[in-house]
Amino acid sequence: MFEALQEQPKDKILALMQMYRDDPRMTKIDLGVGVYKNADGHTPIMRAVKTAEQQWWNREDTKTYVGLAGDPAFNDAMVDLVLSDSVMRDNVASIATPGGTGAVRQGFELIRMASSKAVIWVSDPTWPNHISILKYLGMPTRTYRYFNAQTGTVNFEGMRQDLSEAKPGDVVLLHGCCHNPTGANLTMDQWGQLVTLMQDKDLKPMIDIAYQGFGDGLDEDAAATRLVASSLPETLIAASCSKNFGIYRERTGILMAVAQGESVKMAQDNMAFLNRQNYSFPPDHGARLVTLILSDDNLRADWQAELKDVRNGMLRLRTALAGELKRLTNSDRFDFLANHRGMFSRLGLTTDQVETLRSDHAIYMVGDSRINIAGLNDDTIPVLAKAIVKVAS
Ligand code: LMR
Repeated sequence: MFEALQEQPKDKILALMQMYRDDPRMTKIDLGVGVYKNADGHTPIMRAVKTAEQQWWNREDTKTYVGLAGDPAFNDAMVDLVLSDSVMRDNVASIATPGGTGAVRQGFELIRMASSKAVIWVSDPTWPNHISILKYLGMPTRTYRYFNAQTGTVNFEGMRQDLSEAKPGDVVLLHGCCHNPTGANLTMDQWGQLVTLMQDKDLKPMIDIAYQGFGDGLDEDAAATRLVASSLPETLIAASCSKNFGIYRERTGILMAVAQGESVKMAQDNMAFLNRQNYSFPPDHGARLVTLILSDDNLRADWQAELKDVRNGMLRLRTALAGELKRLTNSDRFDFLANHRGMFSRLGLTTDQVETLRSDHAIYMVGDSRINIAGLNDDTIPVLAKAIVKVAS
């Protein structure tokens, strides 16, 4: 039967990761996949994670299954981290999932079960895997304008115009913070206007929040998600612990459905059903670490302090890169870099220019010119800036 299989499209981000690994040049710079790296190019285990692992190693006395929806303590801790008191806990159904991607996938499947005709509106551009999963699931998808490549800012007017064509019951996929791949984000005022539009048109928000704490702070980055969840009757939220806890390979995430009345239990049962169908019990180790950290004052404080350092480090790199480009170009063309938030910024280069950066300068970024800011350090910022100016002029 396997001879009937067909070649599948390669994931661009993962293919780039491999190309970088295979490049023998010593001077190569990796600005590809969204993984945090310190100035030495290393992705460290966060202090609180290591301590929680040591504690858990001593305490763990069984490997039997946890609940189908995950450990309730993890779900509670994560609902609290993301939503705080913006909605009543009784209004939130939730399942633990393998990473944020698992939550996105389960969320899409839940939508398909509930409303197979609903169109999913995704930002242009969005994380490529959103589109890939939606296509794989055969779900109707349309894009809304999001980014003005000339200015490096959000094209809010274009977004509003496109979403005004959505039909009642359609789903709007939004990035809660730190938009991937552009780095450009709505202001809170624009989020407010978007909420009104979704209310008026009876649209259903689904929020992917994979970088909480990487933008302006844990609460600041969740503010938009809380606003949406508290303003509309139904909201789906896919959250990831990969980045803010640095536990990428532990596959730790959660899908939340904010709903009303009887729908909460119905959503909960269907989400647990989806877990059972797709992988049965969600992985526990990462979820356990997150629960230990969030429920212990000392561990939590240490985690937040380290996360703050990570965030401030990326903000400093942004400002430094914007400054260096300003100096070299004698223009404000790249000032947007300092205003973007999160790990990524889209530079606005052509595919050919990105290709030249790779072939001639050993600088790796995604083909749409998305860079991972955390891939830089004080030594590589001038190298990148010089190369950008060279290919772009
Ligand atoms: C990214 O966008 O680079 C990350 O979210 C990693 C991934 O899985 O694509």
